[in-house]
Amino acid sequence: MAITISIANEKGGVGKTTTAVNLAAGLALRLSEKTGTASRVLLVDMDPQGHALLATAFEHGQQKLPASLAALLTETPPPSIQRIIQKSDHHPNLYFIPSDHGEMIKAARDLPALMANETRLQRALAAVQSDYAYIIIDTPPTTGDLLINALVAANHVLIPVETSYLGVSGLIELQRTIEQVQMHFRPDLKILGYLPTLCEEQRAEAQEILAELKQRFKNNLLPPIHKASDLAYAHSSHMDVFTYRPPRSRSAENIASSSRATHEYAELVDTILKKTKSG
Ligand SMILES: Nc1ncnc2c1ncn2[C@@H]1O[C@H](COP(=O)(O)OP(=O)(O)OP(=O)(O)O)[C@@H](O)[C@H]1O
Ligand SMILES: [Mg+2]
Repeated sequence: MAITISIANEKGGVGKTTTAVNLAAGLALRLSEKTGTASRVLLVDMDPQGHALLATAFEHGQQKLPASLAALLTETPPPSIQRIIQKSDHHPNLYFIPSDHGEMIKAARDLPALMANETRLQRALAAVQSDYAYIIIDTPPTTGDLLINALVAANHVLIPVETSYLGVSGLIELQRTIEQVQMHFRPDLKILGYLPTLCEEQRAEAQEILAELKQRFKNNLLPPIHKASDLAYAHSSHMDVFTYRPPRSRSAENIASSSRATHEYAELVDTILKKTKSG
């Protein structure tokens, strides 16, 4: 059974997509020497917003798929999930399900009126649970059925938090949503951790905010991801940061290069591997 992690925060622009892409790529690299299912990672893009296009992190043709994630969520019976899974160009053991923007926006609008509307992604992924070691789900910056579907389909949630005063506030709504999902669908849904993102250490208040986050989230606070141009450039070059800034010689043990962002995301990958193995 795959370990399924949703990357969620209802605030926009906090690094969800960046974290989903680099966590998935990093996991694929770390697991690359394993065989079969134990090496495979699936990335699911549940965000219909154009500017957050997960698929742009991978160079793949704009070929029309025979079915769509939106159809998977709204049609009865749904099409086979196998038909919409794509292979990453950068990592042989990384797969992804792209979001189809217009159709996803329509799906978000239609879902509330459909039966079993919260569990549709969970049921779709059930068919491929045994094909992957990890499934990573990127989510939209809005409350609604797409976010609920992503949470119901997951056993863990990772919450990127922008290292700013505004980033610290505004998590209450997400925590309430998670509690509702735990109560009604997934008593086993765990918060894997809060990840400080876009951390600018040269700004005086960064340390103060990190201390506040530490006090609030205690051991659930993960080491911060600093603001790094490599992450923004990798994203605009349709790559994960490990592909954009590769080390001289790469192995499953050695995935980071001289780029700090690769170290920070590699550390996140290791923490997640450890946390999900023990429980
Ligand atoms: N640590 C970082 N350093 C520099 N740039 C970053 C970093 N993290 C994210 N970015 C950039 O900030 C922007 C927003 O990041 P991202 O798209 O990951 O956020 P998001 O939470 O997914 O946004 P949305 O809520 O709109 O989906 C992107 O242009 C991304 O390249
Ligand atoms: Mg995004």
